[in-house]
Formats: sequence, C-alpha cells, structure tokens
Amino acid sequence: MKSAKFITFEGIDGAGKSTHIPFVVQLLEQAGHNVVTTREPGGTELGEQLRALLLHQNMHLETEALLMFAARREHIDKVIAPALARGDWVVSDRFTDASFAYQGGGRQLAIAKLEQLEQWVHADLQPDMTLLFDVPLDVARARLQSAREPDKFEQEQAEFFSRTRDEYLRRAAQFPARFRVINANRPIAEIQAELTRIISNL
Ligand code: TYD
Repeated sequence: MKSAKFITFEGIDGAGKSTHIPFVVQLLEQAGHNVVTTREPGGTELGEQLRALLLHQNMHLETEALLMFAARREHIDKVIAPALARGDWVVSDRFTDASFAYQGGGRQLAIAKLEQLEQWVHADLQPDMTLLFDVPLDVARARLQSAREPDKFEQEQAEFFSRTRDEYLRRAAQFPARFRVINANRPIAEIQAELTRIISNL
C-alpha cells in the first residue's frame, strides 16, 4: 500500500494559508516525499480558465457552485488521482471544504446540494488531512487590505466572511479526525512550530 497523502489548506481570505503552504511543502520534501502542489479553483489548464471566470464574473450562485465542482472534477482526474496513484503527496490550496464554506456558508446555498455534488464528483476521495487556518474577521480583513486588487470574493462584506468562517469551523467540528484547526492569529514562528509538530506526527 502506498503511503501518499492528500493534504488540503483552508481558511477565509486573509487567514495566511499562502504563507504557510511553501513551509509545509518544504517539510514534506525534507522528509523525502515527492510533493505535488496545486490549488482550487484551478490546478489544470481548463481549471485555471474556470478560475478566471469564477473570481471575476458575476453569475448565479448555483452556476458558481457547479463550476467549482466542474473544475474540481478535472483537477481530480488530471492531477490529484494520478499523483496519489504514483505515490506522490498532494498539497492543495483549497478543496471541497471551500465550496461548503463559501458557497454554502457565505452565499447560503443549501448544504444538501453541495453534498450531492460532492457525492457525484468525489464520493471515494477525501483529504487525509485538512489544515484550517483560522483568524478573527478583522485580522483577515486588515491583511487583505494591503494585498493586491481584490477579486470577487475578497470584495464581499464582513457578514459573508463571518458565515464562511462559521461553516469552516462547523465542518472542522463535524470531521475532527481529518481537520486540524490552527490559530493563525499568532507570530509566524509559532504557527510554523505547530505545523512542524503536525507534519512530523503524520
Ligand atoms: P484564494 O485561494 O484565496 O487565492 P488567492 O490567495 O490567490 O486569492 O482564492 C480563491 C477564491 O475562491 C477564494 O476567495 C475562495 C473561493 N473559492 C470558493 O468560493 N469555492 C471553492 O470551492 C473554492 C475552491 C474557492
């Protein structure tokens, strides 16, 4: 049996996951694993085209959810499943938990509809571990303000992110074996120390 693992990174915009992904990838590589680093929406040529639409075009909220899962279907087929089959580890910047949090929590699409899409697109595949970077909303927003031109999601109001964060935390409570909730409102060195512990226990 291959020991390859599928690790996903989640959190509201501004939680800091982009800072921590390269650090975790480096830890895994130092441990001798081949690592495929990817992201959602995106990760394939078609997926990146869908990402450009998803991040910048207004659309019906069900269209948005369907396109997220369409991109994901492609991503699993072209990148995630082949990598795991080869024995490579996969690190993805977001996966289906983001659809539950953003489309379900943020945009209030019925969770049951998202569960149907999840069943359809990846009934047999779940991340082995999901690192949820959690910060209070005001901290996340302050970090975003210094970032580049905001995309469609980043322009949402505080209530949207509050619902998104709540849905992430609800899922973490629902799937405690898979989730690690990381308090990301701390100095980077402290967060890295926690990540090092988590990865060495994997
Ligand atoms: P993000 O991962 O934050 O990338 P960047 O750091 O470049 O801004 O951007 C992706 C956006 O897409 C983010 O706002 C969350 C959103 N998203 C969803 O709404 N649903 C999903 O299923 C996924 C994967 C992402």
